[in-house]
Amino acid sequence: MSITLTEVTLSDQVEQSLSRLAERFRNVYPFYDEWCKEVYLDIQNGSRSLYDIQLANDAIGLLLINKSKKSIIKINTIYVYPPYQHMGFGSQAINIFLDKFAGNAEFIFIQCKEENIAANKLIKATGFVFIGFLHHTIEQARDNLIFVKIKKENVSLDSAIAAANQVYSLSGRKKFLPTKL
Ligand SMILES: CC(C)(COP(=O)(O)OP(=O)(O)OC[C@H]1O[C@@H](n2cnc3c(N)ncnc32)[C@H](O)[C@@H]1OP(=O)(O)O)[C@@H](O)C(=O)NCCC(=O)NCCS
Repeated sequence: MSITLTEVTLSDQVEQSLSRLAERFRNVYPFYDEWCKEVYLDIQNGSRSLYDIQLANDAIGLLLINKSKKSIIKINTIYVYPPYQHMGFGSQAINIFLDKFAGNAEFIFIQCKEENIAANKLIKATGFVFIGFLHHTIEQARDNLIFVKIKKENVSLDSAIAAANQVYSLSGRKKFLPTKL
């Protein structure tokens, strides 16, 4: 069974998909509902994109990405709805995204919690490399793992780490901690 990725642009569909995301993640991240409101505006202004993962005509999950820098894409999250999990669709969606939608990006970043076994497996199975941690406060160090996929040839892991430092530490709310330190 193969899936397709379709960009969601209509306001009510964006709202519907974001509310499914918030439902899934608000227990993990208490700020998630507020964050989704910011994400909604970012989708309207084009700095983030939301894709439905579709199987025939059914939406079975979604992929949210941040493309605020031309050479860097952050996959904010991938969510395959529970009845469809563990059937290979998450990996297929990431691979389709990398092949068809990542354009000229040099680096694609993705993050997940250390204890999220399914996400860790999916990320490694699709060829991402672990490069460091992201934490909101010092107590939460090691909370989120950051992985990168380098799309262009002859680009070093060091430049990926420098790029991660740039995109993840920008807001001042978070700190990126490379594994090399
Ligand atoms: C993480 C998630 C997207 C994976 O999607 P999926 O379609 O189930 O993943 P796949 O079927 O393509 O499997 C990918 C890998 O993960 C493994 N996997 C999937 N679900 C698993 C589970 N519940 N437990 C252990 N391993 C699991 C698969 O065996 C596969 O590993 P392999 O390639 O070594 O065999 C899905 O579990 C999900 O939506 N979780 C909730 C949201 C979330 O945590 N998103 C990640 C935030 S970045």
